[in-house]
Amino acid sequence: MRIGILGSGDVAQALAGGFLEHGHDVMLGTRTPAKLADWTAENPKARVGSFAEAAKFAELAVLSVKGTAAADALRAAGAANLAGKPLIDTTNPIADAPPSNGVLSFFTNLDESLMERLQREFGNVRFVKAFNSVGHACMVNPQFKGGKPTMFICGNDEPAKKIVHGILDQFGWETADMGKAEAARAIEPLCMLWCIPGFLRNEWVHAFKLLTRP
Ligand SMILES: NC(=O)c1ccc[n+]([C@@H]2O[C@H](COP(=O)([O-])OP(=O)(O)OC[C@H]3O[C@@H](n4cnc5c(N)ncnc54)[C@H](OP(=O)(O)O)[C@@H]3O)[C@@H](O)[C@H]2O)c1
Repeated sequence: MRIGILGSGDVAQALAGGFLEHGHDVMLGTRTPAKLADWTAENPKARVGSFAEAAKFAELAVLSVKGTAAADALRAAGAANLAGKPLIDTTNPIADAPPSNGVLSFFTNLDESLMERLQREFGNVRFVKAFNSVGHACMVNPQFKGGKPTMFICGNDEPAKKIVHGILDQFGWETADMGKAEAARAIEPLCMLWCIPGFLRNEWVHAFKLLTRP
């Protein structure tokens, strides 16, 4: 597939590497393409453009920008360029305040997630929450003693979730579909839980697994 990633940071680069490894075509979108010169030299098959160019390029879009800038990045990408397309939303609504005893602050609340806000503003985009509850270093081909970790996903569009499920299979994850967009109220805070061992003990290599009866 043609993957248009809105973002240029650790997550955008980690996922781009995974998509390239699995044979997809990738374009990263950023406000400053020049800053990716080294990355482009290391990944000659990948393209770099503006947010709007990456959105136009995408058959499957990925949103990997700072949570506070998510709506602005989508506006810059252009609603028309994303209309009808599936979009993997990796963002977390992390506030600018520092963590308190290792616990991040969010600018959303438990009755309204960031993805719901974005879905409301960009009604034609087929949002699927995924990849927000694990560190970028473990997103592709995760290796853990306890076996395949679980990626919790949600979104209103079933065919879009099916596409994301297929990508997660390729990237070595087990998928747990938690339902519609409202489930992002529970999935986004998994980021807070995931980060606590990191902030308290500098432990950043772990992932969640949902245990079920055989
Ligand atoms: N880091 C992780 O391990 C991890 C894991 C799971 C989920 N997440 C979530 O994934 C997202 C990306 O994380 P990250 O660590 O890769 O990067 P980040 O530092 O959170 O964000 C960098 C990206 O945000 C964009 N950005 C910042 N301010 C902007 C603005 N005012 N307008 C438009 N774009 C703006 C930047 O665009 P330019 O390219 O134009 O500078 C850049 O692409 C975040 O929401 C984060 O919470 C991160």
